[in-house]
Amino acid sequence: MDAYQSAKEEIKRSANIAELIGQYVQLKKAGQNYLGLCPFHSEKAPSFTVSPSKQMFHCFGCKKGGDIFGFWMEYHKVPFSQAMMDLAEKYHVTLPQRKLTPSQRKKMELRESLSDINSMAADYYHHILAATEEGRQAREYLDKRSLGREVVEEFLLGYAPSGWDNLTRFLRGKKIDMEKAVQAGLIITKKGSGYYDRFRDRIIFPIHNIRGEVAGFGGRVLDESLPKYLNSPETPIFHKGELLYGLHSAYQAIRESGRVLIVEGYTDVLALRMHGFKEAVATLGTALTKEHIRRLKGYAREAVVVFDADTAGKGAAIKSLPLFQNEGLSSKVMVLPEGDDPDSFINRKGLDGFLNCLAESVPIFEFYLDLKLSGAGEGIEGQINILEEMIPVLSDLHSESHRLLYVRRLSERGGIAESVILSELRNHRISDPGQDQERNLRKKLSGTRAKGLDDLHMLNLFVHFPHTIGRLMDGDCRLLLSDPTVMELFEFIHEIYKKGEKTTPDAILERLEGEAARERLREAMLSPPIYPDEAVEQALKELENKVNKIKLSESLIKTQGNLEEKNRILMLKRDMQG
Ligand code: CTP
Ligand code: MN
Repeated sequence: MDAYQSAKEEIKRSANIAELIGQYVQLKKAGQNYLGLCPFHSEKAPSFTVSPSKQMFHCFGCKKGGDIFGFWMEYHKVPFSQAMMDLAEKYHVTLPQRKLTPSQRKKMELRESLSDINSMAADYYHHILAATEEGRQAREYLDKRSLGREVVEEFLLGYAPSGWDNLTRFLRGKKIDMEKAVQAGLIITKKGSGYYDRFRDRIIFPIHNIRGEVAGFGGRVLDESLPKYLNSPETPIFHKGELLYGLHSAYQAIRESGRVLIVEGYTDVLALRMHGFKEAVATLGTALTKEHIRRLKGYAREAVVVFDADTAGKGAAIKSLPLFQNEGLSSKVMVLPEGDDPDSFINRKGLDGFLNCLAESVPIFEFYLDLKLSGAGEGIEGQINILEEMIPVLSDLHSESHRLLYVRRLSERGGIAESVILSELRNHRISDPGQDQERNLRKKLSGTRAKGLDDLHMLNLFVHFPHTIGRLMDGDCRLLLSDPTVMELFEFIHEIYKKGEKTTPDAILERLEGEAARERLREAMLSPPIYPDEAVEQALKELENKVNKIKLSESLIKTQGNLEEKNRILMLKRDMQG
């Protein structure tokens, strides 16, 4: 084993996979394993399984799975080499140098250097704010807004001085590659030549990812000029649709209370924190996405969304309803008085006032329905308006039971017969081919699963009683397989078996390449054994007998004509059946 490989093993041994994944996904103990809602696809019933004894995870829904490295790569969207480095650091394992492909190396180095440059810039801005004369005005501004030292330090707030090239000169002085700083979105190429700073005369809000690295920045003017906020552009490490401001420092509080408050502004997060409320995160000036929600449901059981009372805010609240529904995260809306945002509200009313208002939050659907009912108009016309608005929302829901519940609600509140709503829903869905296609596909897929009972049993025997592999292989039990994926898997095991190398399920999984076969193997490893210990021998015998029968019938066909031989085989066959 090379040094890199053994470092990998060492990390695996040091890590507790359930504990590691448990930092990002809420896991519940279920027998030997842990279960949770999958962070990689939409689901409401947990099928995401983590097995500490086997050191792996697997989602029975979307089939994603693997070891701690696989999780890290998928969750943080980083390449393997990065996962190795992150986890090596986390578990204090020293990594040997390793040869990467040139493109892997390039990508990794780019991410690393962008993150380094961001971190340098954040420290620079923070220093200007905290400790220089240039930062005085910004300090006064934050004071005026009651944003004190606690949050300035915790969130590493900063100030980008006025002038066109302060950061540019600072980074140059640090011998930073200017093109990299451009890629990080911190500086901009001038038309002729040279560079200038993106952020000038702005309060700086570094935006951390969940690993605590500075992924990008938001910057606010100190007065009323426009644009009020400027953010980093999308970069290889800054994705607005996935990141949430404040999550890196809020996730423990969110996990403890089970609740997350989603606000719109950076200053809302900070003001709430100043008053001791730690469960808030903010989107980055963009709409809430399913990636945001997937991430949050790893920590929260319930999300409360604060949207502005204006029309745009309400529209955003409504758009988020199907997202929450489909991710299975229960969601409420907190309604603030007209003209307030969480920052202004908590500064007026204090923490208690804020918590009282929070306690009045209503489920998003109710909120939505109220809004529609109040704006729909009278009589039949009004009812038609409501139906037109509600049908697409209802139709978007993945859960049939929620749909029926809401149909009833709509019927009660809107005075529309349930049968009418249901028939409108049917019409809508027929005219929306996307849904039907998916359903058909799913039906087809589930139909092909039931086949291959021997496949299932052999795989199960192999993973739970690895010592049976000799019998399975020598008995040519592979001939019984019908599922191409399982066949591929056993062919692979056969190759390794012939060479006399290690054939434990772990060792096979480590070397196996086809993703489908890997999925199947993981799934088997996490399924309970079909046979109790004392039935294993019997199970093996049955499989061997079946194979022998097949072989005999094949030789029967071959020996047609040779009567004596035929009789001998028939006798044998009869003996076996007895
Ligand atoms: N935003 C943005 N670009 C803008 C305006 C707003 O990216 N030009 C984003 C920022 O993330 C901001 C959020 O939208 O935090 C909410 O904007 P807004 O309500 O206007 O600002 P506040 O966060 O309330 O900031 P402040 O209290 O300082 O006015
Ligand atoms: Mn505000």
